[in-house]
Amino acid sequence: MTAELTDAFAASTAASSTPSVGLVGWRGMVGSVLVHRFLDEGDFAHFNPVFFSTSSAGRAAPQFDGVELEEPTLQDAYDVDTLRKLPVIVTAQGGDYTKEVYPKLREAGWEGLWIDAASTLRMEDSSVIVLDPINRDVIDAGLDAGVKEFIGGNCTVSCMLMGLGGLFKEGLVEWGTAMTYQAASGGGAKHMRELLTQFGHLHQVVSDELADPASAILEIDRKVLQTQRDGLDASQFGVPLAGSLIPWIDADLGDGLAKEEWKGGVETNKILGRGEHLAPGVTSRGDRIPFESLCVRIGALRSHSQALTLKLREDLPVNEIEQIIDAGTEYATVVPNEKEATIEQLTPVAATGELTIPVGRIRKLDMGGEYMSAFTVGDQLLWGAAEPLRRMLLIAIGKL
Ligand code: HSE
Repeated sequence: MTAELTDAFAASTAASSTPSVGLVGWRGMVGSVLVHRFLDEGDFAHFNPVFFSTSSAGRAAPQFDGVELEEPTLQDAYDVDTLRKLPVIVTAQGGDYTKEVYPKLREAGWEGLWIDAASTLRMEDSSVIVLDPINRDVIDAGLDAGVKEFIGGNCTVSCMLMGLGGLFKEGLVEWGTAMTYQAASGGGAKHMRELLTQFGHLHQVVSDELADPASAILEIDRKVLQTQRDGLDASQFGVPLAGSLIPWIDADLGDGLAKEEWKGGVETNKILGRGEHLAPGVTSRGDRIPFESLCVRIGALRSHSQALTLKLREDLPVNEIEQIIDAGTEYATVVPNEKEATIEQLTPVAATGELTIPVGRIRKLDMGGEYMSAFTVGDQLLWGAAEPLRRMLLIAIGKL
């Protein structure tokens, strides 16, 4: 059975003040977080969701309490004729899907807004990277100029700017570096499972010795290492992550730079309306800010952490820096640079599932009054992925 939008549905959409929005990739990890956020915030009151599937067109669309679907069957996510009836499409299906379907939609004359989690279109001159608490002005300029591609940023970049954005918005950052500690979820759901399986396996091989307080810790260490080297499934990450770390994320660009590190520099600037590849209508907000990273995968589950060194343009007192960070977005919150507060509030365990972005370890460095450090943590699936898309959709339909 083909699952085309019925004519009646298309007509009701055209007549309704509640726009219909195509949702693709809603079942995956980012998509599921996005749908939960829509439900938590009652967003389905503002638009009619039309659920698409790459594999199950024609089956029943998902049911949610209190949400009445105008189109109760799953639509075919590869059917351009169906997709092009929607004024807005939100996708978390991934880059391969974007590469295949997006050009066909445009060739078919579609003029709707494409809101996408994948990186495919991020650095195109035709797109805006969305992070509205930081760059609402850039988004609005793009919308006014007829930009149609609104793309979620790299998770590490979005979380960093949601925390430190105040300093960037005030034009105070001369340059910066981020040393990252990125969670397994950045790789995907299978990577999270692999990490947990590895943890379980490592525990298993030494559980008897661990239960015996008199056993030798170096013998436990030897058995764990042997298992890490020879006995763990590491098919997702390539090497063991449990009890280790991996100082390379994403592709090798061949010049000593990991793609994740390249993204850190170019996306930070594009979000801020600086540098190259700005969308039509987005006038430059200033020169590119040099921003470097060294990206490391660690055994956290879904929150990315990063240690920043920033060179500021002014020698500001720490309390003023803290105020600027705190006021930068309503989600940034300063953690006092003290041991107890830091270990309680500035960890992946504390940040996961939260929209607040804690920023701590703020202090001036020995290099001079303009140099500061900071440490920040953000849920990689919330501000790092789903939330900017959710908010962009609300902006697109006039609800934010
Ligand atoms: N590239 C990121 C990571 C996730 O691997 O952690 C998505 O932005």
